[in-house]
Amino acid sequence: MNNPTPINPKQIAGERAAELVKDGMIVGLGTGSTTAFAIQALGRRVAGGLAILGIPTSYQSAFLAAECKIPLTTLDEHPVVDVDIDGADQIADFIAIKGGGAAHTREKIVAMSSKRFVVVVDESKRVDVLNHPVPLEVLPFARQLVLKQVAKLGGNARVRMGVNKDGPVISDNGNFIMDADFGAIDDPASLGEILSQCTGIVEHGIFTNVNKVYIGKKDGSVDIMET
Ligand code: 5RP
Repeated sequence: MNNPTPINPKQIAGERAAELVKDGMIVGLGTGSTTAFAIQALGRRVAGGLAILGIPTSYQSAFLAAECKIPLTTLDEHPVVDVDIDGADQIADFIAIKGGGAAHTREKIVAMSSKRFVVVVDESKRVDVLNHPVPLEVLPFARQLVLKQVAKLGGNARVRMGVNKDGPVISDNGNFIMDADFGAIDDPASLGEILSQCTGIVEHGIFTNVNKVYIGKKDGSVDIMET
């Protein structure tokens, strides 16, 4: 007897969320392996006649969208996005930590420009209390100052180092990425507001504007939560 194809929770979450997209929409294209399944599903629908314009959140999603032949636009041409589909590193209720792929600044700009911000994850990302290190995009000139400010807030930040590249990860915007460990984050919205005030931090990875979450599970089901 043949073994059935194993279920990929990221794939079922991404593909289900892609069903939200309708003809004529401007669509935010998030970054990461879960969103990639949504982008590929959209590509298949575009090949079948769906008319949409995508706004990529990174070089990764722009390259993938081009491969999938999804026409792209910009926030200059279309400042209002109908729906944005993106992944997360962790989610509790409707607050997500993002930036595992160093793309959270553009991801947040697109999410904040969207009528609906939809997060796609597998079940390992869902927690009761967020405790994932918070990615920070940091101006290189402010490295020491940001390390000090995070320590003052009770966190411990490290500059993210490259893999297959010596030295720091450089974001699509030319900045450093730090991962700031705060342990359990009881009040992520307040922490996000404080981090937004820190000099030298371009953007942090706490997203408080999630409208809908698709959680893919190993049993093949998808939990859907909506605000
Ligand atoms: C990139 C992100 C990603 O969406 C996040 O890291 C989740 O990635 P994946 O779907 O590959 O687990 O925030 O900056």
